[in-house]
Amino acid sequence: MKKEVSERFNFPTVWVSEGKVRVLVPRLEAFVEKPSDYAPSRAPVFYNPVMELNRDVAVLVLQVFQRFSNRGLFVCEPLAGCGVRGIRFAVEVDGVEKVVVNDINPRAFGLMRFNIEANGVSGRVFAESKDANLLLSEHAAPRRRFDYVDVDPFGSPVPFLDSALRSVRRGGMVALTSTDLAPLCGVHVNACVRKYGAKPLRTEYCHELALRILVGCLMVTAAKYELGVRVVFSHYAEHYARVYAEIDYGARKADENLRGMGYVYHCFGCLHREFSYGIFGAEKRECPRCGREMDFAGPLWLGELASREYCEGILRELDVRELKNGKRIGKMVGLILDEIGMAPTFYDVNKVCEKAGCLTVSPRKVVEELRARGFSASLTHFKSTGMKTDADINEVMDVVRSLGG
Ligand SMILES: C[S@@+](CC[C@H](N)C(=O)[O-])C[C@H]1O[C@@H](n2cnc3c(N)ncnc32)[C@H](O)[C@@H]1O
Ligand SMILES: [Zn+2]
Repeated sequence: MKKEVSERFNFPTVWVSEGKVRVLVPRLEAFVEKPSDYAPSRAPVFYNPVMELNRDVAVLVLQVFQRFSNRGLFVCEPLAGCGVRGIRFAVEVDGVEKVVVNDINPRAFGLMRFNIEANGVSGRVFAESKDANLLLSEHAAPRRRFDYVDVDPFGSPVPFLDSALRSVRRGGMVALTSTDLAPLCGVHVNACVRKYGAKPLRTEYCHELALRILVGCLMVTAAKYELGVRVVFSHYAEHYARVYAEIDYGARKADENLRGMGYVYHCFGCLHREFSYGIFGAEKRECPRCGREMDFAGPLWLGELASREYCEGILRELDVRELKNGKRIGKMVGLILDEIGMAPTFYDVNKVCEKAGCLTVSPRKVVEELRARGFSASLTHFKSTGMKTDADINEVMDVVRSLGG
């Protein structure tokens, strides 16, 4: 069987199981010539086993969305690679009626078609091979729109944002992956300004800022079409940021989104932070604590990055499924649930201890002590040494000193 299939595709392949499906993918080891080679992008068709968690979460969120919307879903994966994600939607999510998987690479198209057949979903999953923007634009008219569009590209999803938003029906959902964290985290500042229209900042909480810049960019793009964006779930993992947002029509909803955007100011001298709302330009600010000029990131989304009902829904779906990454996802979603209602940045407890000149302390202990002092505080899924709170840096320093000696 294996030999027959390899001949068919003219490149080395291997069967892999993910969730409830089994798909044929390029045998990645065959495409690595030197240790620095990144196998998924050297293979003739893209497949990245590390992204299984991303796909697992997508299956769970789509199921929660389907249960809440209580209708049959028309789904699109415009950048599908070997098709594993779209096929998993059809097989694993109740209520998914039809899925369009698309990839501009003709070899990916061939493999997608094979995998659709191999998983017995030919009547519900349909393969296309077009430019993603062209495909999405063909679905921009009212009765042709999708319920869910999953944009999972190489690097930035920005080139596909406009057409993805135009191809989603009222009350539909858009999911975005961004793997270009170097711009979003402030390693390449100008690239972030060009692509996302925001200034990033290289801080210990830059992964949260990255997610907030991505959401802000989605909101500004949606606002042009008088679309409102409701972020229902988002996370950072394995060097990518991922956002799930319900999209609804209405200029007022779009205005509300823009009012929730603003700037994060950061003092590199003493770790003090401030936030300001509004997208019309950052101002010069001096740190009220140490007098140093503060740097800033933005405009970005300062509001919630997840909703309680989606987090709880994901945990319910997780309970009734067997996923390889189930335990890890459960832990991550539990942390994200605790982050709801918290400040838009976090402290790295090790960094605070270093500044305070004391030994490192456990973030969990810091959270407990802050709560005992009447502040809200939580751990964060962004970083194991991170901690969110409404207490200011003076209070946090006092807590770590009291715990760290
Ligand atoms: C990161 S991979 C997709 C992985 C896939 N979503 C998954 O979960 O396994 C990105 C894919 O987009 C395809 N692609 C790149 N530019 C495209 C375009 N303009 N239109 C359609 N597909 C494109 C590439 O061939 C590649 O297979
Ligand atoms: Zn300062």
